[in-house]
Amino acid sequence: MTIKNSVEVKNLSVQFGDFFAVKNITFDVKKGEIFGFLGANGAGKTTTIKVLCGVQRPTLGEVSVNGESYEDITALKGQIGYMSQKFTLYDDLTVYENFSFNSSLRKLDRSFFQKRIKELLDFIGFEYPLHALVADLPGGIKQQVSLVVSMLHDPEVIFLDEPTAGVTPYYRNKFWDLIRTLSKKGKTVFVTTHYMDEAEYCDRIALMRTGEIIALDTPKNLKKKVFPEKLLEISNLDKASNVIEQLKEDKNILSLLPFGSRYHLILKDLAAHKEFQRKRPMTPFCRTS
Ligand SMILES: Nc1ncnc2c1ncn2[C@@H]1O[C@H](COP(=O)(O)OP(=O)(O)OP(=O)(O)O)[C@@H](O)[C@H]1O
Ligand SMILES: [Mg+2]
Repeated sequence: MTIKNSVEVKNLSVQFGDFFAVKNITFDVKKGEIFGFLGANGAGKTTTIKVLCGVQRPTLGEVSVNGESYEDITALKGQIGYMSQKFTLYDDLTVYENFSFNSSLRKLDRSFFQKRIKELLDFIGFEYPLHALVADLPGGIKQQVSLVVSMLHDPEVIFLDEPTAGVTPYYRNKFWDLIRTLSKKGKTVFVTTHYMDEAEYCDRIALMRTGEIIALDTPKNLKKKVFPEKLLEISNLDKASNVIEQLKEDKNILSLLPFGSRYHLILKDLAAHKEFQRKRPMTPFCRTS
């Protein structure tokens, strides 16, 4: 049987007492897609992921991952790799002990485990000794080791809950290279992030607010819809550094946010946008999204 969608979510709600952490959301994720979940703290991202990973029962609605649902929770868990927002690795165990412990939790065959570890360490380009204590690794490397742990059983769909939070830009870039490679290999990657520039790397993004999906589209289409004609991008920051200070004072600019090595600014309205471009016709580093 060919499974069209890797993830299917239909009218999902999750309630804690009277409070809805997730309110009637419906979406699907295609095989091989990099699907991003974006939203402020408490929006319901982790709760949704927990439901999809079989660790939080839905209050209402249906979910399936690679065709498996809550009817067979073991089969559902077999399809997914889950790198949770917290507590993925044991700091006081070595890298190898973390792998081995997780392999035994998954009841993986010893020879499969040994072959798989080699493949995965090659994949992340791991250069540290396997007997290094996890506590001694840099944050970015720890996250790569966590990724290996989540993929030991070769799952089809990988859920990464804020995998690059607190990681340096260098390791964030490396981590995204790994995500892209996984997607090229046909694995589906479901990732949450607070970083706007990372959202741009996703094939599609769902924007969540207070338990609801308020927008879902490609990054390009979302920018067009949410900020039609009002978003400007400023690059070439060496030349622009004094300009940034001036722009901070401009009342027509609603927000001025760093975006990788560039800045995004949102104008109050279309009139403000036109005025901005009229006043700064020679600003070569501004372009309309
Ligand atoms: N077990 C629980 N009991 C009660 N409330 C909960 C529980 N789990 C989550 N919540 C609440 O549900 C809401 C959504 O939480 P969730 O962790 O899904 O948000 P999030 O989008 O992942 O946020 P963050 O960006 O901070 O990780 C929050 O208000 C949270 O306090
Ligand atoms: Mg979360």
